[in-house]
Amino acid sequence: MAYRHFLDLADAGGNDIAAMINDAIDRKAARKGWPKGHPDADAPLSGRVLAMVFEKNSTRTRVSFDIAIRQLGGTPLILDSGTSQLGRGETVADTARVLGRMADAIMVRTDDHAKVEEMARHAGIPVINGLTDRSHPCQIVADLLTVIEHGQALPGLKLAWLGDCNNVMNSLVQAAGLMKFDMAIGTPEGYVPDPLYIEAARAAGSTITVTHDAAEAAAGADVVVTDTWISMGQEHAEAKLAELAPFQVNAALMAKAKPGAKFLHCLPAHVGEEVSEDVFEGPQSVVFDEAENRIHAQKSVLLWSFGLLGDGAG
Ligand code: CP
Ligand code: NVA
Repeated sequence: MAYRHFLDLADAGGNDIAAMINDAIDRKAARKGWPKGHPDADAPLSGRVLAMVFEKNSTRTRVSFDIAIRQLGGTPLILDSGTSQLGRGETVADTARVLGRMADAIMVRTDDHAKVEEMARHAGIPVINGLTDRSHPCQIVADLLTVIEHGQALPGLKLAWLGDCNNVMNSLVQAAGLMKFDMAIGTPEGYVPDPLYIEAARAAGSTITVTHDAAEAAAGADVVVTDTWISMGQEHAEAKLAELAPFQVNAALMAKAKPGAKFLHCLPAHVGEEVSEDVFEGPQSVVFDEAENRIHAQKSVLLWSFGLLGDGAG
């Protein structure tokens, strides 16, 4: 079937996200069984090249996609703005048209969501959002996988988000609507979640509450999530850190959540800012499972984008 862009979780929809998670669980299990089995022996992306364009730093996204495409039989190719012509002003449209003639798929991490949309309009091959100022869908496939493998079903789950209203939060809100879970957002006064994502999730039937009281947001949560208070491209501002300080995920806040609630963070973390060391290093933290799951999740994103997974795959 035809290729598909993965610019946001909504491009896939709930059924296909569930298919991605199931495929990731299977491929992860096969890999954990190695050397008995032969993981990814089907080499479904044999001969395919994934071009990865980085206009921002990355460890997990870069490494997980790089290894994921290799394990699926393909080859990664990394371009960054410092050494490609993008950094000298070549347009996104021209870059997309050239990569589209040479590679088989593109993953882009950039400062401006409009650029991945522009890339998708011109590439003629699948384009995957590897983080923009607006969203981080690949991260959230890994997060959902992590929640499920720690024994929580998504429908009806309460997820508490604490801190800044950012790209990762937007994608979690979108996931809530698609996968039928509820979200409580604890954020300072004056911090406003993107209404496009909030309204879509509510229209899909999810309860999304926004409060300026951290304890209220965390109350009864099954999963507690936070992220850096200063995202890439944002100015480091002491005033912002001070505003967000009451929203730190610490032991007192985790005590408001359900016993056994899990703590997630996409990483990189600023321990002592958005999360205390005892929570980050503690038994409720599943952040390194979450980081590992990027590779398993990114395989299923790639397979979906190539039309090999999900509804109508073939
Ligand atoms: N979580 C995440 O996307 O990490 P990187 O910025 O290291 O890719
Ligand atoms: N919100 C963070 C996520 C990093 C993976 C950022 O955009 O920098």
